[in-house]
Amino acid sequence: MKNIPVAILGATGYTGAELIRLIEGHPHFDIAHLAAHSQAGKKAGEVLPGLSGAIAELMLATADAAIPDAVQLVFTALPHAAAAKSVKTAIDAGKRVIDLSADFRHQDATAYKAAYGIKHPHPELFSSAVYGLVEHARARIAKADLVANPGCYPTSTLLPLIPLLNANILDDAPIIVDSKSGTSGAGRSAKADLLYCEINESVKAYGMPRHRHAWEMEEWALGFGGRKVRVRFVPHILPMTRGMLTTLHLTGDKPESWHQLLYNTYRGERFVRLLTEGRLPSTAGVSGSNRCDIGLAVLGEREAVVVSCLDNLLKGAAGQAVQNANIMFALDEGLGLSEHALWP
Ligand SMILES: NC(=O)c1ccc[n+]([C@@H]2O[C@H](COP(=O)([O-])OP(=O)(O)OC[C@H]3O[C@@H](n4cnc5c(N)ncnc54)[C@H](OP(=O)(O)O)[C@@H]3O)[C@@H](O)[C@H]2O)c1
Repeated sequence: MKNIPVAILGATGYTGAELIRLIEGHPHFDIAHLAAHSQAGKKAGEVLPGLSGAIAELMLATADAAIPDAVQLVFTALPHAAAAKSVKTAIDAGKRVIDLSADFRHQDATAYKAAYGIKHPHPELFSSAVYGLVEHARARIAKADLVANPGCYPTSTLLPLIPLLNANILDDAPIIVDSKSGTSGAGRSAKADLLYCEINESVKAYGMPRHRHAWEMEEWALGFGGRKVRVRFVPHILPMTRGMLTTLHLTGDKPESWHQLLYNTYRGERFVRLLTEGRLPSTAGVSGSNRCDIGLAVLGEREAVVVSCLDNLLKGAAGQAVQNANIMFALDEGLGLSEHALWP
């Protein structure tokens, strides 16, 4: 029974479109309102070629249009800074909110300014926001009115890292985080460096010397892992549509015991899968699913690499957001989500 009306602001972007697809297949959430920016005033199906049926006929409102009274949950899938304003309006109107942007992923305005270089428009909301890294924050998410959905790179980094930090077995050396992302990670808006000719047959690093997600990783490595770490994060963009692979280069005590530590944390989790020792994940193995796959290879007496893969639009964005929404509404956490990838 579809009994919980929801709104999606930023419905015409890549994460917004993925939210529509997931919510359309959800047994309880029902789309009551879609909003966009430059595409407002059109039908959803005119802008999103993948939609069909009644949802394709729904008109796109502007992001600042009033949200219907009946709506209980608002997903904001907007660029940072624009998101904070819509979040504030929705919270003031008594709605619960899941924000997919970075606007509430930090704990205060100083941390946000360090990462994003701008003054936060609504710092008064930081204290009520819960960082929605599901496997480590369920109890807080359940009670939250505002969930900050984690970034895709931080999700792929923190899930394998937190158990090892909790065990206090890593050295003090900077943690090398080498990540690769498909181009949907950069969103749908036109950018010259994302043109087919610039991306195809090429791999490039970007975001140097310090990508904004490095702050988010360090803040929540401390928040969930209990340890201050320095992250040396290098993201790369690849000529594939979706998918993310992150390799953590780690040194510390007894790497041969780390697989068991990860197993102890994630056994029984539906959306985090630890591969058998020595097997490493691939983006194709998680594409279309809400899973993060983790593999570990011991390289030497004190060295190992841990590799994680997820679909940046699902476990890295819209999928984790629906997982959060299920928890907020006391529903089965996996409703509307698939553990299984598209294959081939
Ligand atoms: N892509 C990913 O893999 C990913 C993963 C995790 C988190 N995120 C975060 O999720 C958010 C959305 O990302 P995305 O990739 O879906 O972005 P996107 O494809 O660029 O879509 C942005 C959406 O926001 C709307 N918009 C653009 N400028 C706006 C403004 N000034 N005010 C209000 N609305 C505006 C756009 O509407 P029009 O189309 O009508 O212009 C569109 O619906 C971002 O904060 C991003 O950092 C993205």
